[in-house]
Amino acid sequence: MPRLASLIESKLPEETVEMLRTAGELAAAGESGAGEAYLVGGSVRDLVLGREPNDPDIVVTGNGPRFARALTAQIKGEVTSVSQFGTAVIQSPQGRVDVATARSETYSSPAALPEITPSNMEDDLKRRDFSVNAMALSLLPSNWGELLDPYKGFADCARSRIRILHDASFQDDPTRILRSVRYEVRLGFSLEVETAEVLERDLSYIDRLTSARLVAELRKILEEPERANILRKAEAEGIIGAISPSLRVAESGLKTMEQLDSADELLYLACMTSSLTEEEADAVIARLEPDREWQAVIRGAAAFRVTASVLESADLLPSDVVELLERVPVPVLEFQRIAGPRTRQRDHIEAYLRRHREIRPETTGDDLAAQGVPRGPVMGKLLHELKTAKLDGKVTSQQDEFELVRRRLPILLDRERQGTDQPAGAAAP
Ligand code: CTP
Repeated sequence: MPRLASLIESKLPEETVEMLRTAGELAAAGESGAGEAYLVGGSVRDLVLGREPNDPDIVVTGNGPRFARALTAQIKGEVTSVSQFGTAVIQSPQGRVDVATARSETYSSPAALPEITPSNMEDDLKRRDFSVNAMALSLLPSNWGELLDPYKGFADCARSRIRILHDASFQDDPTRILRSVRYEVRLGFSLEVETAEVLERDLSYIDRLTSARLVAELRKILEEPERANILRKAEAEGIIGAISPSLRVAESGLKTMEQLDSADELLYLACMTSSLTEEEADAVIARLEPDREWQAVIRGAAAFRVTASVLESADLLPSDVVELLERVPVPVLEFQRIAGPRTRQRDHIEAYLRRHREIRPETTGDDLAAQGVPRGPVMGKLLHELKTAKLDGKVTSQQDEFELVRRRLPILLDRERQGTDQPAGAAAP
């Protein structure tokens, strides 16, 4: 097996190399709960490919959490979490280090979480998703940097291909279907022929994934710099449709996604779901069960069509526009500002986002209370009328505002007494 010690030393920050050496020495000393220690997974793949690796993952044979505690004594880090699967997370001045116990996994049914048994390194690599992610580099001083590659990941790196390790891989863990396209695009790789066939055959297993796992995978896609290309490929390969037949990622949304310079997950999501009808949006939400922010964006993107047509009318006051747009999540508006037609609609959105969204009357609830206005619906209506008047230029100073309050307060109080109240948004006479 080749030794890739020089790659570790040249591609990783010096402090990380030091930490890995310490880990290897600790394992070799035999009193840390570990027998062997390896750098594994994505970092090894990235080293082999000459890419900048992310935070290191260490796997040890023996007892990962015990080893993690012993390591933190030497590198002045802290074990911040330990799981029932024999894993531990270390936060150190050099960053995050994941430590795991070498283990084998069995799946009781497709897409179930695996049952885990501590095992040797070969088994640990065998349970992994793709050959390129199933390589390990030894950290022991006696064979520092030696590559363990039983599934030929090195050769697949050289051939730029993503290959599963066994026929049931996507059934065991259908998140791998989404992972595969993420790696293909990120690394510029292609699926190996049989892997592509198996992926197509097993697309329907995505149905078995819990909504939480699906959302977590979508989030990882949205985090990637090449998010638009990943979604484009996933759409073309039927992966998006396998998540939900109602989910479609339109080319127009992807084009907009590519133009964005801000890093905002919700804005990417608005691009991704911009072409859905309200019915489709509801079906996608029912499948993904995402948090409230995601729900608001998915629903808001779909519902925007109606708002857009109202925004085209000629005689809208700034307060009418605010009333309409306040209900729309900002990421949906940002998307429309960039992607929408260059018409009155876009002018209104721009004015709202740049200026009108922030406009408040100078008079506050406390000011009104100091003038004897009781807290409650009447105060709410007065504040709303003040804001409307300010937006539409009908009041321009606090003096004007006090004047408006003086005029409107008796009328509103009277209406409240008689129970002939109008809703807060109704225009003042
Ligand atoms: N892994 C797996 N199957 C999964 C998730 C992860 O086999 N469904 C394994 C892979 O060996 C992977 C490692 O666990 O390399 C770590 O997972 P993760 O952090 O998600 O991936 P990385 O390869 O580190 O990729 P990234 O560069 O995206 O962080």
